[in-house]
Order: sequence, then structure tokens, then C-alpha cells
Amino acid sequence: MDLRRIPARDGDVASDPVLLAAIRDEIAATGPMTFARFMEITLYDPARGYYRGAVARPGRGGDFLTAPEASPIFGRTIARFGRAVHAALGAPGTLTIREHGAGTGALAAPLVETLLEADGGPVSIDYLVDEVEPARVEAVGLALAGLAGVQVERDHGRPVDGLVIANEVLDALPTHRVIRRASELREVHVGVTADDQLADIEIEPSSPALAARLAAESIVLADGQYAEICLALDDWVANAAGGIRRGVLLLIDYGHPAADLYDPRRRAAGTLATYRGHQVGEDPYRAIGRQDITAHVDATAVESAAAAAGLIPLGTTTQAEFLSRLGAGELLVAEQTRPGASLATYLETRSALVRMIDPAAMGRFRVMAFGRALDGEVELPGLADRRPSQARRRGGAGVIGTASSRL
Ligand SMILES: C[S@@+](CC[C@H](N)C(=O)[O-])C[C@H]1O[C@@H](n2cnc3c(N)ncnc32)[C@H](O)[C@@H]1O
Repeated sequence: MDLRRIPARDGDVASDPVLLAAIRDEIAATGPMTFARFMEITLYDPARGYYRGAVARPGRGGDFLTAPEASPIFGRTIARFGRAVHAALGAPGTLTIREHGAGTGALAAPLVETLLEADGGPVSIDYLVDEVEPARVEAVGLALAGLAGVQVERDHGRPVDGLVIANEVLDALPTHRVIRRASELREVHVGVTADDQLADIEIEPSSPALAARLAAESIVLADGQYAEICLALDDWVANAAGGIRRGVLLLIDYGHPAADLYDPRRRAAGTLATYRGHQVGEDPYRAIGRQDITAHVDATAVESAAAAAGLIPLGTTTQAEFLSRLGAGELLVAEQTRPGASLATYLETRSALVRMIDPAAMGRFRVMAFGRALDGEVELPGLADRRPSQARRRGGAGVIGTASSRL
């Protein structure tokens, strides 16, 4: 997402009253809820959650601008990676692509169009959409409607020989929050104050899996340090990986190896952030159901879950390096001679690409690729170091793609 950080202004956006009442009622009935449960309600409630409903959240008129929404050059560049995946699968006539969290289809359209135009590329593409919101599946169908040789369907988990991709999806999964107090791990729950406001409350962890995750990653939080732990990542990656018979899982998101994510010098307050109206905030208890809530992704946990699901790491890098190595610069030059090109469209594309590769913005996003049953020793373009992030750190080698701070 491409945003500027501003302090949240209390009271300027009302919460959804029904969601707020549901949260208060649940707390009154069963006690403080985990932050993950709070996110489940605010983002995913089937009737009123932030990600549900007809209005797509990313986009110029929405709350944040993702790289695919910023310009189709993102999808065209990713198509170069898609071509290599297609080749690594033995160049079948039909390539299957599954996109998790496909949003408005802003990645799907240029990706599919470019792949189908490519010499030696697939003749047809099955595009499977895994979206929490059915309206988004329809939107992707519409975005691809003019293209011959594409079938779009809502994902029902059928096995994929192809490319599975998720851009800016993992950072929205419900996450738990913890804090270390006097050598003890406490979990930050959501409670209700005497004057009926939602507020943080620190109590016993709701699951031993929270301490176990930190221990598995050799993380010891500093006293007073907050951290988000996304236990939902394990099932999400297992599910995404489990659906791949042969092919590649490509994940792009805010993310860092555990040692960076939980570095007390850089992220003592954790990485929780809210997004509304192209502005970043820090208060999850305002604008409930009407603002996005995210936390940076634990790349080490993703790698562990992918390995547990039998995937092979193919490489990891930053979005800036990924797009550059795939030849986004060359594609930008080609923009000047695209049919219908004008100086205005060229300049718009150029400025969008600059934001996508700017290390102070989206350029520092983490790109992670994993594969299963590909032909031989596959070197896919755009990627770098294959070793898992923890091994790189222990070996003292330069870590490619660490982000310096959140936006
Ligand atoms: C930040 S938007 C990114 C959209 C798109 N990938 C892009 O880059 O423009 C997150 C999208 O993921 C969807 N989403 C969130 N959680 C999801 C989940 N658990 N499974 C499938 N889709 C999800 C949302 O509905 C939303 O469309």
C-alpha cells in the first residue's frame, strides 16, 4: 500500500454500530476477546465486515492503493514470472492461476492478457479466485471478460498445476497481540472500559501456541515490547500450498524474517496499522468495520509453514529487486510505444513504478516464492537467495529484502 502516516483523529469516523454492539455483547457474555477474534469480526463479519460487501477496498477511491491498483505495469511485469512458471511446468496449453485475495482484478487483467500474448505462452488460462467476498469474484470475472481463452471461477480448492499468487493478503489475516511484562508473556485482549469504550487489556495468553511460535523462532521479546503473532498463517499457507499439485506459490506482502520483525530496537510497539482514506493510523478501536487493520508478516513462519506443507523455497527478495530483475524498466520504455500511449499515460505509469520500487514505500515489500514438483533445478527470474531467512541470518550473509521500518 502506498500511504502516508498520520496520527488517527479520534471520533472523525464512526464505527459500524452493529459490529461495535456485537463486539461489546460478546465481551459481556464471554469476557475479553483476543485481538484475532476482534479482527475476525471487524474485517470478516459476513454481513458487515470491512472486506465484505459490494465496495472494493483497494483503489484510488478506496482506503489504500496496492501495486496492481497503482498501474497495470505491475501485472505485466509479474507475467514475466508467470511465463517462466509456465515453462517450468513443460509449457502446457492451459495454465492455471489461483489468486488469493484478488480484489478488483487489477492484477489478474494485465497478468492474463500479457501471458496470452506471449510467444510460446499458454493458449488458455483457468483463473481461480479465492476471495472472502463473492462480489470480488464477480469483479475479477468482469475485469477478464474481454479476453478470449480465459475461464474465471470461484476457487473450490481444485488441485492446481500452475501459479498461485497472493498480493497484500497475509497482512490482513487475524493476528494475536502479545506483550512481555516482567519476563512473562501476556496477551493483549480487547476489553470494555467502565465508560463502555473498547480498550487493550493484558491477560494470560489464550493459547500456548503463542509462546511456542516465539520459542520456535528463538525470539525473546524485550520487557514492554508488543508483538503480533499470526497463528492463522499456518493454516492459510497449508491450505494455499496444499492446493498446488505442481507449480509455484508467490507471496508479496509487508514482511520480515522473525528476527527483524520482532527486533525490539526497531519495532518495540509491534507493526499493527490501520488504513482509511489513504491514511495510516494506529487506533484499531475507531472506525470499526470501516478501516483496514494489518500487521506485518512473519516471513520465518511463512517459510516454516511452506516447508511443513512440502514446498521447496525458490527464493526471496524485495519487490523493488523482483520487479527490476523481471525487467519492469524495459516494460516502462515499451509503454511509450504501446497502442494508445500518450505522454500522460507514460508519466502516470512511470510514477506508479517509482512508488512500487521505492525502498521507502512498496519497494521494500517482501517477495517469497515456493515450488512443488517443477522440472529439474528451476531458477525462476526475479528471485534471489533460496535459503530460508533464519539460515541467512545465522550465516551472517546479507539479508536481501529486509524492510527498515513500517510506513
Ligand atoms: C489489501 S487487499 C489486496 C487486493 C489485491 N490483492 C491487490 O493487491 O490489489 C486484500 C484482499 O484480500 C481479500 N482477503 C482478505 N482476507 C482474505 C482471505 N483470508 N482469503 C481470501 N481473500 C481475502 C480482501 O477481500 C481483499 O480483496
